[in-house]
Amino acid sequence: MTTTAADFVPSTDDVQTLADAAKGCRGCGLYEQATQTVFGKGPAGAPMMLIGEQPGDREDVAGEPFVGPAGRLLDKALNEAGIERTPVYVTNAVKHFKFVPSERGTRRIHKTPSRIEVVACRPWLFAELDTVAPEVVVLLGATAAKSLLGNAFRLTQHRQEVLHLPPEEAPGKVRDARVVVTIHPSSVLRGPPDARAESFRSLVADLRFARELLDA
Ligand code: URA
Ligand code: SF4
Repeated sequence: MTTTAADFVPSTDDVQTLADAAKGCRGCGLYEQATQTVFGKGPAGAPMMLIGEQPGDREDVAGEPFVGPAGRLLDKALNEAGIERTPVYVTNAVKHFKFVPSERGTRRIHKTPSRIEVVACRPWLFAELDTVAPEVVVLLGATAAKSLLGNAFRLTQHRQEVLHLPPEEAPGKVRDARVVVTIHPSSVLRGPPDARAESFRSLVADLRFARELLDA
């Protein structure tokens, strides 16, 4: 049987207890090369949860999600959308940094996690959803969207739609949560320079859509 994080997730309604247990997760092979587990961060009872892909190089060292270049871009987009980051719970679909060394071995290059790794890490995500119980969940990019909405999900076709988690999988407390999908902040940074302003604007517009659901 394939291992997953399920064997490591304690039964608790305390997010700090989850974070502490996640430090020892061996649910897939990604813990071997990474510095540490990067668990979610934010208050229990946060009305909004943001879910990215996996920690990047900076996050792997700092032990916190979205503190590197993608995090700075996310902060700017949140600010423009009128969302304060402090009351938001921020996490990732996968809790360890996956990378390959650059050709000269001087840098660590992000590598997209496999489906097996995403599925292996999902018990942590469900546990966070169940514990934090947000009203609005924003999935940043295809990895987070496919983790929770299925591998066939195409996020470009569902932006600014109110979605829900599959009821057969979603923890009870978030069955009614409103789910919004948008692009990943890194895709703004990676896109061609002349497309960056437009993709940034579209990210802000989607985040504003999510914020308005909370206000409604
Ligand atoms: N990209 C992500 O998806 N998450 C982070 O925490 C940082 C970069
Ligand atoms: Fe566990 Fe997730 Fe890290 Fe894999 S990526 S070892 S499942 S925390």
